Amino acid sequence: MEAQRTIDDIREKVRALKKEGNTIAFVPTMGALHDGHLSLFRLARQHADEVVASIYVNPEQFAPDEDFEEYPRELQDDLKKCEEEGVAAVFAPTDEIMYPGKQYFSIEVDELNEYMDGGSRPGFFEGILLVVNKLFNIVEPDFAVFGQKDIQQFRILQQMVNEFNHDIELLMGPIKRANDGLALSSRNKYLDDEQRKLAPGLYRSLQYVGKQIVDGAKNIELLLNHQKNELEAKGFKIDYLNLFSFEKMKPVTSPESDSKYILAGAVYLGETRLIDNLIIEK
Ligand code: PAJ
Repeated sequence: MEAQRTIDDIREKVRALKKEGNTIAFVPTMGALHDGHLSLFRLARQHADEVVASIYVNPEQFAPDEDFEEYPRELQDDLKKCEEEGVAAVFAPTDEIMYPGKQYFSIEVDELNEYMDGGSRPGFFEGILLVVNKLFNIVEPDFAVFGQKDIQQFRILQQMVNEFNHDIELLMGPIKRANDGLALSSRNKYLDDEQRKLAPGLYRSLQYVGKQIVDGAKNIELLLNHQKNELEAKGFKIDYLNLFSFEKMKPVTSPESDSKYILAGAVYLGETRLIDNLIIEK
């Protein structure tokens, strides 16, 4: 299948699908598609008649010292996967199409990006909000699907949709994992053999702490510190490992019942940053 490269082309394609009476579920990606992305296509298909994807490595969400240049780009392989999954159209624009000139406007986010990935990566969520807002206006889908893997992204985009009245229902797909528990990620390609063997340690730590919290553990800080030390001893560098409230994405030390939390971690193995999380319902 061929990608639509211009805004006019993808609009024409989506409008034709809609004219035939189809509902549209949209799955935005940065490509290097793996089973995690494919699982979102399948979830999309359960909710809508046709699935539309985008493949675009958005420069606005990478800081100057991050891996924008190295980020894997595999458009032909990706298009084959989209075709196999029955994706009706793929929007794969160039930077010139998405950002033809100076941007005079931006979307800023308050509070929800203070911690977790927002805390560690200044400007990251502003870059995501900018591109997803543009993509939503270009594709105008009925549904848009995002992964739990990037849970803060989901929460912030849900808020954007609510506050800016996008007529789009967001859906969240569960985290797809390798057999050993490692959350699938396009960045896993950067790991060498030794790092790849260590990598599922993050998920194991989250699972261990998650179980203790559900079982009623009181001293969560102690539990987390212990896991951080263990991970560091194995060769991980910890960015954060903490319990956050779902609503505000802020750290909590004593979870209350009937509330929703996220136990989330970000670690480095060498230069590679890995993230993972569990949703904890108390
Ligand atoms: P990307 O990292 O390519 O991810 C695209 C979507 O796939 C996101 O919603 C992400 O949460 C989801 N995803 C990634 N790994 C997953 C896994 N193991 N299981 C299930 N879903 C997974 O997220 C982005 O791109 C960008 O920020 C984007 C939204 C496209 C804006 O540029």
